[in-house]
Amino acid sequence: MPTMNLVPVSTDDYRRIAERKLPRFLFDYVDGGAFGETTLAKNTADFSKIVPKQRVMRDVSEVETATTLAGQQSAMPVALAPVGMGGMLARRAEVQAKRAADAAGVPFTLSTVSICSLEEIAAVSDKPFWFQLYMLRDRGIVTEILDRAWGVGVRTLVFTVDLAVVGERYRDVRNGIAGGASAWGKFRAGPLSYLSHPGWVVDVGLKGKPHTFGNLASYVPAATDPTQYREWVGSQFDASVTWKDIEWLRGVWKGKLIIKGVLSVEDATAAVTAGADAVIVSNHGGRQLDGVASSISVLPQVVESVGDKTEVLMDSGVRSGLDVFRARALGANGVLIGRSWAFAMAARGEAGVAGLLNAYRNEFKSAMALCGVTKVSDIAGDCVTTSDAAQ
Ligand code: FNR
Repeated sequence: MPTMNLVPVSTDDYRRIAERKLPRFLFDYVDGGAFGETTLAKNTADFSKIVPKQRVMRDVSEVETATTLAGQQSAMPVALAPVGMGGMLARRAEVQAKRAADAAGVPFTLSTVSICSLEEIAAVSDKPFWFQLYMLRDRGIVTEILDRAWGVGVRTLVFTVDLAVVGERYRDVRNGIAGGASAWGKFRAGPLSYLSHPGWVVDVGLKGKPHTFGNLASYVPAATDPTQYREWVGSQFDASVTWKDIEWLRGVWKGKLIIKGVLSVEDATAAVTAGADAVIVSNHGGRQLDGVASSISVLPQVVESVGDKTEVLMDSGVRSGLDVFRARALGANGVLIGRSWAFAMAARGEAGVAGLLNAYRNEFKSAMALCGVTKVSDIAGDCVTTSDAAQ
C-alpha cells in the first residue's frame, strides 16, 4: 500500500488517498454503489476476466493513441464522465478537472448538478467540453440551460436516461445523505464560500463571493442552502420521461446528442431510432439498480446490434488504460471514467487528474504495443480472449 510520500499512479492509489482526505460521508458518496453493491463489484471484476493477447515481433516503435469521440478529436479514447456535486471534492474542482482534461487532450463532461457553472467552465479555455443533462420537470428551465450551454460553446450533449428514480445507496442512507431533506445540511455554509463538516472544511467557493449551486443556482430558491438545493433538485427530477421526449429534445438541441445509460440491445436500438449520435452503455457505475449486468458484459451485444448505425461508448468499471484497451477490443469506440477522476481530484486536485490521465495514456499505449497494435482503429476482438469473461 502506497504511503503519502510515494507518487500515486493507479486509480487505487488515488482512492486510498481520497479515503484519508475526505470526510467519510463524502468518500462513501463517491465510492459507493446501490443496495449491496454487487453490480459495482461486477463492473470491475468482469473487466479483469478479459485477457489481453500478448503479441511479439511486430514493429511497435510508433504507437498512436489519438482517436475521435463523438466526432471530436481526443488524445485517447477516454472522456471524463459527469460527476454530480464533483465540485465539492476540491476547490472549484470542476474547473481544475477541465484544466487537466484540456492539458491531456480529452473531453470533460460537466454534470447538470455541478458546483461550478457552465459559464465558469467555459471561461477556463476555448477547448470544447460536453454537458450532461438530467431532464427536469420544468422544461422552460431545461430550454434555458441548453441555450446557456450552446451560448458558451457546448456542442455535445450527454443525456442521461438511467436515473428515472435515484438508486437506493445504502452507504448514503446510513450516512444520512440519501433523499431530499438530508445531512447535506451538515454542510454549513459558514462564510458562504465554504462547505464545512465537522473536522473538515473545503473551500468550494469563489473568493469573497457567496457559494452557489452551479448551473441551477438561478432557479433554486435559497441557492446557497445545500438542503434546500437537494430538495429542489429532487422535486425537479422527471420520472415520466420516455423516448418521445427525445423528439422534443432534438427540437431544442441542435448539437450532437449522446444517450447515456442504456444496458440492453432493446434500449440501444430505441436510442438509435430516437436519433442518438452515440450511446453510452452504462449502469451508472453500479449506483442505480443493483444486480444488473456489468456494462462490459453487455457491450458486445450492443455493438453487434447498433454498432454500424451509431457510435458506442461505455462506462462503469474502467480503472486503467488497460481497461480502455479491453473495452476497445470488445467494440467500444471509447470509454468514460467516473470514480477514477473523482478520486484523483479529491487526492491531488488538478495535478492528480493530470497524473491519472497520464498514467491512463501510458498504460493504454503500453497495452497496444505489447499486443502488437499501433493504431487505435486496429484494436479489435482478436486482441483479447474472453473465454470465461462475462459468463
Ligand atoms: C456519477 N454519475 C453521474 N452520471 C450522470 O449522468 N450525471 C451525474 O450527475 C452523475 N453523478 C455521479 C456522481 C458520482 C459521485 C459518481 C461516482 C458517478 C455516473 C458517472 O457519470 C459514470 O456513469 C460512472 O461513474 C461510471 O462508473 P465508474 O467509472 O465510476 O466505475
